[in-house]
Amino acid sequence: MSEDTEIKKGLAGVKVDYTAVSKVNAETNSLLYRGYPVQELAATKDFEEVAYLLWHGELPTPEQLARFVALERAHRALDPGAKRLIDGLPSTTHPMDMVRTAVSILGAEDATAWSSDPDDILDKALILFAKLPAIVAYSQRRSRGLGLVEPRRDLGYAANFLWMTFEEEQPEVVRKAFDVSMTLYAEHSFNASTFTARVVTSTLSDYYSAIVAAIGALKGPLHGGANEAVMRTFEEIGSAEAVAPWLDEALADKRKIMGFGHRVYKRGDSRVPTMKAALDTLVDHYERPDLAALYDTLESEFVSRKGIYPNLDYPSGPAYHLIGFDTEIFTPLFVAARVTGWTAHIREQLASNALIRPLSVYDGPAERHIEGYVPDEAHLAAAAREAESVH
Ligand code: COA
Repeated sequence: MSEDTEIKKGLAGVKVDYTAVSKVNAETNSLLYRGYPVQELAATKDFEEVAYLLWHGELPTPEQLARFVALERAHRALDPGAKRLIDGLPSTTHPMDMVRTAVSILGAEDATAWSSDPDDILDKALILFAKLPAIVAYSQRRSRGLGLVEPRRDLGYAANFLWMTFEEEQPEVVRKAFDVSMTLYAEHSFNASTFTARVVTSTLSDYYSAIVAAIGALKGPLHGGANEAVMRTFEEIGSAEAVAPWLDEALADKRKIMGFGHRVYKRGDSRVPTMKAALDTLVDHYERPDLAALYDTLESEFVSRKGIYPNLDYPSGPAYHLIGFDTEIFTPLFVAARVTGWTAHIREQLASNALIRPLSVYDGPAERHIEGYVPDEAHLAAAAREAESVH
């Protein structure tokens, strides 16, 4: 194949645009949101402040934060119309499909869905950001036969999310671990779902369509669906003692071990140490050394055999499990966090748009014709004109 037809399968290594939202540096295992190391943000800021930073480029002043938080709290309730439509879905609907459908419903109900004005997009994003916890929490409750819990305005984003899911206030250690996971999941440059959102936006389609498409991309187990898949792996293995024989068989069957590996990071994921520390606090809180032993054993066995390191989904899956989330809810939790990054990228794409439309190299059958087909005069004349214009 000649140089100019070299295929970059999966767009690996291809730089398609600039972004000022985040910087992933695989060489130094670092991740910056608008210039700030994500570990520092996770340690010192609540998720609302991180969302503000991603959307506005700067951390909020106390006044800006107060306004942002007040608006977020005012929009948390799921309106009865959207709830009725969600209730019409079969009880077997996967929560990811429910969240995707719910966002679509919100888009269909928004009379100004088409607006690409940057301020309008922020307004829509804030409402979606505020409502997603209600949608995700209700998704878990509905599958357990429980009703919707009304939001509490006296609680911050993470505490209210946990309240709406469990109808109980959670201890600070749990709130903090959950809040940290939201910050770590918020943004990661041109990952598959963000790129999907940018592709849809590049056609000048609307905000909700870009988010719905991004949710579809995130659902796959090679992307966000991996946090759910990690938990299923843990359940399948059962205990630390069972890791080695299980891994022998899985590797012999050429299975992918979920929660390991990354397209960009090849020497470890910058977000893992922070999430692992949060998981450790949960392991202590819930007194589950057995889960920690399974986690550590699978990690050391897999890393020593393959030299492939855990990604963020590896510690976040068991962390969500310990908090009490159902496994099917893990990827919807990722949606609630990543909607912040998607929004920042959608606005960035619109601010300097070019239709995203790559090329392909055709390798199908050579030109052939339908037997018995005789082109009419008009067709022949058009073909002749076309041939003429090429020369
Ligand atoms: N388990 C087993 N083998 C793995 C692996 C994993 N989790 N991740 C990568 N590998 C192997 C591949 O089988 C491949 O081996 P080969 O060269 O012998 O065929 C090699 O490492 C390169 O992997 P590849 O899938 O081509 O790299 P990529 O950059 O396209 O993939 C992922 C990145 C994330 C898709 C991949 O690591 C993966 O599938 N991980 C599991 C899913 C996951 O955790 N996703 C969340 C990502 S944040």
